[in-house]
Amino acid sequence: MRAITISQPGGPEVLRWTEVPDLSPRPGEVLLTVAASAVNRADLLQRQGFYPPPPGASEVPGLECSGTVAALGEGVTGWQVGDQVCALLAGGGYAEQVVVPAEQVLPLPGGVDLVSAAGLPEVVCTVWSNVVQLAGLSAGDVLLVHGGAGGIGTAAIQIGKALGATVAVTAGSAERLARCAELGADVTINYRDQDFVDEVRKATDGHGADVVLDNMGGSYLDRNVDVLATGGRLVVIGMQGGRKGELDLGKLLAKRASVAATGLRGRPVTGSGGKAEIVADVRARLWPLVAEGRVRPIIGSVVPLAEASRAHQALENGEAFGKVLLKV
Ligand SMILES: NC(=O)c1ccc[n+]([C@@H]2O[C@H](COP(=O)([O-])OP(=O)(O)OC[C@H]3O[C@@H](n4cnc5c(N)ncnc54)[C@H](OP(=O)(O)O)[C@@H]3O)[C@@H](O)[C@H]2O)c1
Repeated sequence: MRAITISQPGGPEVLRWTEVPDLSPRPGEVLLTVAASAVNRADLLQRQGFYPPPPGASEVPGLECSGTVAALGEGVTGWQVGDQVCALLAGGGYAEQVVVPAEQVLPLPGGVDLVSAAGLPEVVCTVWSNVVQLAGLSAGDVLLVHGGAGGIGTAAIQIGKALGATVAVTAGSAERLARCAELGADVTINYRDQDFVDEVRKATDGHGADVVLDNMGGSYLDRNVDVLATGGRLVVIGMQGGRKGELDLGKLLAKRASVAATGLRGRPVTGSGGKAEIVADVRARLWPLVAEGRVRPIIGSVVPLAEASRAHQALENGEAFGKVLLKV
């Protein structure tokens, strides 16, 4: 089969469309013929040499895909050869074939075509596990989503709205904020020239955000704590603004608020907080919202997999709104 490999750490040009050995499923795994994969910001870091795959995962990038079940490993139940599915991966999605634990496979949700489904698993599992399972977002809460125009952000806006929250977003241009508003964002904040703490407080009569989904990390830590409502929950999932920041515990204590940081890729498959648990909950509680059309994949562009370097460039330049898909 052919796959995108990283010839050496570096820019988008180090991605190569190469011949690699065929795969076969081990016990408990499913072999998929990949229809499409999608680019995640983590893939850019992996390409640069800053985010190695977890132990045992493929060296080929790609954290999600859609495709057709081609073979079942020993002991797999619930899937049949020929099923059209999408899957959450620890790596290996930028390829014509991938193997994945059966528990990380999802049926295509109603109303979503095979290629577009590639843009769902990583972002919805990330948003669901953090915003819903960990931070317990509920109807009437205020959710602040940083980077609302990105892959994660466009999913978080829709999930927040579907669950009855008021959603505030930050993005880097008026045009991108207008598109976030079309997806349902109630409060739009340009991070280049507006203070998100002031804007969220203004829009919520001083209440603040009950839940913050943050992609920036260190550079936003103090202001994210400032924007939290009493009892608020800040969940950091990205470190685009650095790994370190100063946390004023006094502010946190006064608000009875909490700060968490989580990663999805390195989680075990089974056990509490494992990928199987997240995928099962997404299937049970989020897939019906997708089938109703209340949450859908937001596709910025579709690029041939062999031209993955062009797709990485697009994400790096901030050109994409939503997901960039890689079609086999
Ligand atoms: N922990 C996990 O398990 C996990 C899983 C998946 C993703 N992530 C993280 O989630 C983040 C988003 O991932 P993605 O794949 O959706 O990437 P993406 O589509 O490239 O989105 C990145 C976003 O960052 C925004 N941004 C840049 N500078 C900003 C600033 N100063 N303030 C607020 N937002 C800013 C961009 O906004 P504009 O384009 O409007 O400028 C863009 O929307 C990344 O940090 C990624 O590493 C974490």
